[in-house]
Order: sequence, then C-alpha cells, then structure tokens
Amino acid sequence: MNEKLSKIACVGLPGSGKSTVGRQLARRLSLPFIDSDQVVEQRIGCSIREFFEREGEASFRDLEQSILDELTCSPQSCVISTGGGAVLLPGNRKHLHERTIVVYLHSPPDEVFRRLRHDRNRPLLQVADPLGKLHDLYQLRDPLYRETAHIVIETGRPSVSALVNQIVSQLESFDPGQVGELPV
Ligand code: S3P
Repeated sequence: MNEKLSKIACVGLPGSGKSTVGRQLARRLSLPFIDSDQVVEQRIGCSIREFFEREGEASFRDLEQSILDELTCSPQSCVISTGGGAVLLPGNRKHLHERTIVVYLHSPPDEVFRRLRHDRNRPLLQVADPLGKLHDLYQLRDPLYRETAHIVIETGRPSVSALVNQIVSQLESFDPGQVGELPV
C-alpha cells in the first residue's frame, strides 16, 4: 500500500463514532488503532475533563496539536481517531489532510445529542444546554471537517460494520493523488 494510504484518520463531532468505527476499521485492515484522546490522557496522567478544568482549553489544544503532529508524522501505518476539536487549528487540518486519508463521520447534532445525552466526560458538553452547544459546534466545525476530509460518510442508522464496509469500499477506489496539499 502507498505509505499515505496506510494511515487513516477519523474526524467528526464528539459522539459521531470515531473511536468505535476507527477501531473496527483498523481490525478490518489489520492495522494498529490509536485514539489520540487516549494518548493525550496517557501524557497528562489524568482525564481530559480534569485537564480542561485545571489548565483550560488552550493548553489542551497545544498538547493535542503536538500529539497529532507526532502521530501523523510517524512512519507507522495505523488508523487514528482524533478528538472532535482536532480540526480547529489550521496546522492540524494541514497535517491530517496531507499525511493521512481523512474520513469525516458526518452526524447531525440531534443524532449525537441522542447518543451523548448522559455523557459526563466531554468537558464542552457539561453546560445547561448541550443540544444548543452541539448545534454551535456543528455550525463552526462542519465546514472544517469537510475541508480536512477526503471521504465523507453519513453515520445515520447503519451498523458499525456497515459503516466500515462503506469506508473500505471508498478507500479501495481512493486516488492517492487526492492526498494533496491543503492551502492554509
Ligand atoms: C473535544 C472532543 C473530545 C476531546 C476533548 C475536546 C471537542 O473528543 O478531544 O474533550 O473539542 O469536541 P471526542 O470527540 O472523542 O469526544
């Protein structure tokens, strides 16, 4: 496989299934799976939620950026699931787009709200109106996910294995020439 083709990154809103789908995709392609949020938590030695409360979002974004740079640079073939805010920094969008095949798992905010309404781990959603917050995140981020992605998958109703099938079939017809530069 082309080196770029052997590194795949999943992007999308929190709750869009990046880790679940990414893990199954890795299994299907016999590649290692790396969850960038887990790498962050290993480095900081506490949960991302605690880190947000103690150090603030900007410190988290700095750390996330350096970890994504390392993960996308490494020669190891793998499937990476990224944090939902990974596309906020232009440098991350560029690195993801130019060094990996980016799969955007597109889920509308109402759908992720249904999945995440009892979640207490995502710091950005611990607010009075999490659905409103998800709508705001979607408005801001959907164009950034699309700009970064090579492949867009509608998550909707399909099972995880059906989503993985869709991704694999799009990867099979993927033209490596599409992993071009992202002007920022
Ligand atoms: C974030 C999403 C989280 C995690 C952090 C910030 C975000 O990852 O990186 O809490 O900005 O949307 P998930 O998308 O895996 O929940």
